[in-house]
Amino acid sequence: MTLLNILTLPDKRLKTVAKPVEKFDAELKKFIKDMFATMYDAPGIGLAATQVDVHKQVVVIDVSEDKDQPLCLINPKIVEKEGQQIHEEGCLSVPNIYAKVKRASSIVVEAQDESGNAISIEADELLAVCIQHELDHLKGIVFLDHLSTIKRKMALKKLAKEDD
Ligand code: NI
Repeated sequence: MTLLNILTLPDKRLKTVAKPVEKFDAELKKFIKDMFATMYDAPGIGLAATQVDVHKQVVVIDVSEDKDQPLCLINPKIVEKEGQQIHEEGCLSVPNIYAKVKRASSIVVEAQDESGNAISIEADELLAVCIQHELDHLKGIVFLDHLSTIKRKMALKKLAKEDD
């Protein structure tokens, strides 16, 4: 198992749009293992491949308290969205910055598992937030992009200060 290096803002590579996974091979399975290890080590509740500079549509998630419900989504697509919720989000790529973001309250996601089997997941509450947040990463979007210009600038200033 290898811990992967997590990119942080303002690294431009976080803006890369991920490509679909086509090969479900041993290399992919190893990468997924490394992603889970990296996420649990951080610690975080979700990690997108984009954040470790691999631009493929892979995300790993575990929002459970005991960290025993790993969920890996490959080539995920949100096919249904309903309602609204506001949750304070953070991100391993935006250390120590938290902000309230408006998201759909419940979603249906279609994806593939690590063997390429089709899966469909209904999610609400924190899991829905986390999935929407991670899928954004695959499109080169970070949660700060959902904030107003002023709030985003304030957050980026704070981030720059903490880097000093
Ligand atoms: Ni994130």
